[in-house]
Order: sequence, then C-alpha cells, then structure tokens
Amino acid sequence: MADPETVLLAAGRGGIPISVVKARDWEAFRRQLAPDMRRWCESNGFKSQPGRLLALPGAQGLLRQVVVGDAEEPDAFALARLCRSLPEGIYALSGGLSKPELFALGWCLDAYRYDRYRKASSVGPRLVCPGGVDRAEVLRAAAASGLVRDLVNTPASDMGPDELETAALALAKAHKAKIAVISGKALERGFPMIHAVGKASPRLPRLIDISWGPSRAPRLTLVGKGVCFDTGGLDIKPASGMALMKKDMGGAAHVLGLAQMIMSAGLKLRLRVLIPAVENAIAGNAFRPGDVLTSRKGLTVEIGNTDAEGRLILADALALADEDAPDLLIDMATLTGAARVALGPDLPAFFTDDDWLADEMLRQGLAVNDPVWRLPLWRPYGRLFESSVADLNNAGESGFAGAITAALFLRRFVQKAKAYAHFDVFAWTPAALPGRPRGGEAQAMRTLFEVIRSRLAG
Ligand code: BES
Ligand code: MN
Ligand code: ZN
Repeated sequence: MADPETVLLAAGRGGIPISVVKARDWEAFRRQLAPDMRRWCESNGFKSQPGRLLALPGAQGLLRQVVVGDAEEPDAFALARLCRSLPEGIYALSGGLSKPELFALGWCLDAYRYDRYRKASSVGPRLVCPGGVDRAEVLRAAAASGLVRDLVNTPASDMGPDELETAALALAKAHKAKIAVISGKALERGFPMIHAVGKASPRLPRLIDISWGPSRAPRLTLVGKGVCFDTGGLDIKPASGMALMKKDMGGAAHVLGLAQMIMSAGLKLRLRVLIPAVENAIAGNAFRPGDVLTSRKGLTVEIGNTDAEGRLILADALALADEDAPDLLIDMATLTGAARVALGPDLPAFFTDDDWLADEMLRQGLAVNDPVWRLPLWRPYGRLFESSVADLNNAGESGFAGAITAALFLRRFVQKAKAYAHFDVFAWTPAALPGRPRGGEAQAMRTLFEVIRSRLAG
C-alpha cells in the first residue's frame, strides 16, 4: 500500500486549486473568471454539471485551476474520486465543502493499491490537507483501512494462521500491547472447537490474544473470525463458492484495523483483541458432518455442516471474552452468504440487543460514509438450529434466515458482557466504487471507532 502520508500532504503549502462549484453558483463563479477562461469553459461545454471536471490552463500552458461540479450522488467519496483522475501534481481544495474531511479521506482511500506482488506505477495526484481538517485523524482511518485491505488481499498461501499471528505481533509491538498465543494441540482442552475446525491443516490453528491499556478503564473486547482459507471442509464448497475464500479472515483483519485506530488515537479504554486463526481444510483427520463437539462453554454442538465453521471458532473465543464481563463485546466476521443476499456487498449487517448502540451505529455510519444496517436477533428462530442429539446444531436444515440464525448461535455464548454486537461483513468490493478499489475492504470499522469513542472513551 502507498503510505497515505505521501498522498495527503500537511496543510499550509500551496497547490493547484480545486474549486467545487454547485450548478446554482456557476453563473457567479463564471463571471469572476478572466474573459479567456470564460471562453475556455464555453468551448469545453462546461457549466459545472455534477460529476464533471474541467482543468483551466495558465500561462505557458501550465495547469492553473480545476473546476468540479458538485456531485449529486449521496456517496461522499465521489468528488474525491473524480479528482483522482487529474494528472500527477499537488492540489488544494479551495472554497467550502460541507465535509472536507470526507473529501480528504475519500482521496486517500481511492489512492490505495495492493502492491505486494507488483509495484504500483505512481502515487498519482496528491492533496494538500484542507484547512480545518484533522490530518492525523484522516491518516489514521486511511492507514487502518489499508491494513485491512492488505491483509484481506493477500492470498492464503502467504496469509495463513502463522502470518496472521505475525501481523498481530507487529501491531502489538508497535503499540506496546501484550500478546499471547495458544497453538495446535494446546487448544484441545480450552478451545476444543477452534482445534476441531483447524486440525486438518498442516498450518496449525491458534488463538491470538492481545491486551492493551489501563486495567481500570472501561473494557472493550473485539473478536475477529480468522479463517485464512475456507474450503468448506468435508462439506466442500463448489469452485464458485471457494474462489474468494482467502478473505474469510476478514473479521480478524477488521479487528486488527480497529485496534490500530484505537491504540494510535490513545482512547482511554482497556482493549482486548481475540482472534481464532485457522484454515478450514480437508484431510483424513478433518472434523465431520454428524460429529458432536463440546465447546469451551460446555454447550455441545452437533455438526450439521462443516462449512458453518466460523461460528464454531467464534463461539469458543466469545466464551473466553465473556468470562471477564467486558463493558462492550464486539465480533466481526465474514460469517454468512445469507447476509450478502439480504443486504448486498456494500452494507454490513449487524445484530445487537442494545438499542442505543444500534441507533448510534446507523447515525454515525451515515455521518462518516461507512454505513451499516441492523438485522434482528429474532429469538423464535432459535428453533431453526435445534439438534436432536446435542444442545445446538451449527447449521439449520431449512436455510431460512441464515444470517440471523448464525447471529443467534453466537449469542448463546455471550451472557456476562454488558453489551454485545455481532457484525457480518463482506470485506470485499467486487467492482470499484469511489474510495473503494476492487478487492479487500474495511467495512463498519470507522463507524465502530466513532461509536466506541463516544460510548466508552468520551
Ligand atoms: N465464510 C463463509 C460465509 C461467506 C460466504 C461469506 C461467501 C461471504 C461470502 C461461511 O463459513 C460459510 O460457508 N457459511 C455458510 C453457512 C451454511 C453452511 C450454514 C453459508 O453462508 O452458506
Ligand atoms: Mn464456511
Ligand atoms: Zn467461513
């Protein structure tokens, strides 16, 4: 990833001005231009239409100014993306925009390139941080999104449980956090479901446990699904369903990105991050359909489908998280295809019994252009994953309400936490959008940061 710092320059230096002009302000703007510039606009047929951009030439054929029609689209990153098509150079926003911080962030997020295997050709145009915008905040969000994207985009061959641990170690070291890891056979006693899911891979399963911050501060625990590749297990996925499954550690990537934001902002809270990291592989010793597992919590789980592996490893990690009764417990996971069927790739689903949290998530999500949508923890659907031999089945037979039953399954493993929310994220942009290049994506992370800051560290 290109360092966002090279894309968003510190304020207080000049740049080619970018004027955002609404269609209704166009006449006034046009009138104060020099006659030759007015003619230039006319000969280009430019009237400041939304989503159009015009470069004005200066002396000696240099680029002097850029005029952009304000975007009508609701996407706050659309304008920044339009400006990213400008030639290389340094630009500065001139005049007012209602949310210049989102313009700056959109600019940085659009500049992201995944360059691990092929170096990007150039950084492209650069932006001087607009006045009144907190550059450090923008860079913090852009860097965390870049971390999530890099982790998700890296193929499973280079991002197994071990490499995910390495990424967690690097983050912990950078912020002087404590980290402990339990791997392989040692998981069998305390985390039997993490072990069962991960044991068929030669790349050992593990539970990563990071803690940071003063122990007397409000306690936040984040849990992230770290399935480094999901073949489906013995209930193997078809090729089309397996193609993108390197991204099944997206939840883990998200909680690492969110933890990075929290620690670098120095929020006054006690943070714990738990990542069960496994590969859902196929081998003679793989767990099977019909097996019954005893979870950390003691609940027994019949395996209806080895492809519903995420909820198994999360259940053991959530049970551990719940033991110290955190003030807020959040898990993030690429958990179900059903959440995508319901809401599509742009809108992560989330589930909580806490109405304040839910309302704040919706409000902040719109405010920071990182939207989320609530789905219900509809208790009667507990009947859809009953088992005739164990306390629970990990997959309903009906397929009805797949995202909700997965959330209800997880909910059974949380009792003591003061508040709990589950996020079912896609972690992927299938086709590029403003501020969102194709590939791995951070979703709900910036919104969560804002909500956590106001709830726990306000
Ligand atoms: N990782 C998948 C869910 C997934 C698939 C997320 C595609 C995003 C895109 C998960 O482990 C899974 O396979 N879930 C199954 C559950 C079913 C077997 C009950 C699903 O959603 O089909
Ligand atoms: Mn699966
Ligand atoms: Zn999965």
